Amino acid sequence: MKRAKISIIGAGNVGATTAHWCAAAELGDVVLLDIPQVEGMPKGKALDLFEASPIFGFDVKITGTTDYADTQGSDVVVITAGIARKPGMSRDDLLSTNAKIVGSVAAEVAKSSPDSVIIVVSNPLDAMTQRVLQVTGFPARRVLGQAGVLDTARFRAFIAMELNCSVEDVQAMLLGGHGDTMVPLVSCASVGGIPVSQLIEEEKLQTIIERTRKGGAEIVSLLKTGSAFYAPAAATAQMVEAIIRDKKRIVPVAAFCDSEYGVGGYYVGVPVVLGSKGVERILEVQMNDEERAAFEKSVLSVKELVTSMAALTE
Ligand code: APR
Repeated sequence: MKRAKISIIGAGNVGATTAHWCAAAELGDVVLLDIPQVEGMPKGKALDLFEASPIFGFDVKITGTTDYADTQGSDVVVITAGIARKPGMSRDDLLSTNAKIVGSVAAEVAKSSPDSVIIVVSNPLDAMTQRVLQVTGFPARRVLGQAGVLDTARFRAFIAMELNCSVEDVQAMLLGGHGDTMVPLVSCASVGGIPVSQLIEEEKLQTIIERTRKGGAEIVSLLKTGSAFYAPAAATAQMVEAIIRDKKRIVPVAAFCDSEYGVGGYYVGVPVVLGSKGVERILEVQMNDEERAAFEKSVLSVKELVTSMAALTE
């Protein structure tokens, strides 16, 4: 059987850690690409990771490069290129720099891996994913963004911390943009099959929701030199696995919603069936009035960001 090829553009914290999780799970051969100004860096990280493989026994090729020719014919391409947040910055503050970087990366990926599924990780996520769709001209199902898997993982982690129970038993779902307006759905959160609202009182749940919304900023303020990477990379690797192994996982991703949820042609976080074709189906969940209002507010902030991006990239 032909081995899958996964290319990761941007060999910084999120990119290199994604390479680590993907290689360790033997999802396929991994190519790590960065800019020529840091030529040795992706090569060094790839070699270092490959040298770990005899110890842990993962058997895949890992290549570092600055040349898109090495990414030729990838099945999945992960875009992490760009700058990360520093304390005091919102994801939206990255818009102008990352729109240029992500636009140029997307043009290269469209040429070198025209049949790939692209997972965008660079922030501000929903706008960057829209940029990749515009530049590549790929069908929307093959361009998606990583955010919801990370945000629900944070929501699940905080619920497990509150109940002092296994994270494995906590299920959750979340909608909306990858920002402070995201909408964690209490109605879809459960612990061992029990609705979370039966186990955690309302006031505490609201605190957990607020912490989830600001989960990225919490890590930025602790690290001080950059933003989160272990959990974002783990979330990305889970999405890569769903695609490469055609698992048809039901996960929240930034997907292009047109008639779905009445969004009208923007990327927002929604539950999807994720398989080898990319986004195979968007699932519409019922929301109560409060959740619907929060979702609409979140979609509005994504639209505003995309409008600002259009002004910057025209
Ligand atoms: N092509 C390829 N790589 C690029 C390009 C480009 N045009 N421009 C920048 N890069 C690389 C940088 O050289 C750097 O190695 O992207 C990498 C980014 O790595 P970090 O600075 O460590 O940032 P990281 O924490 O990985 O975050 C990357 O993911 O979660 C998001 O908000 C985060 O937008 C940020 C992105």
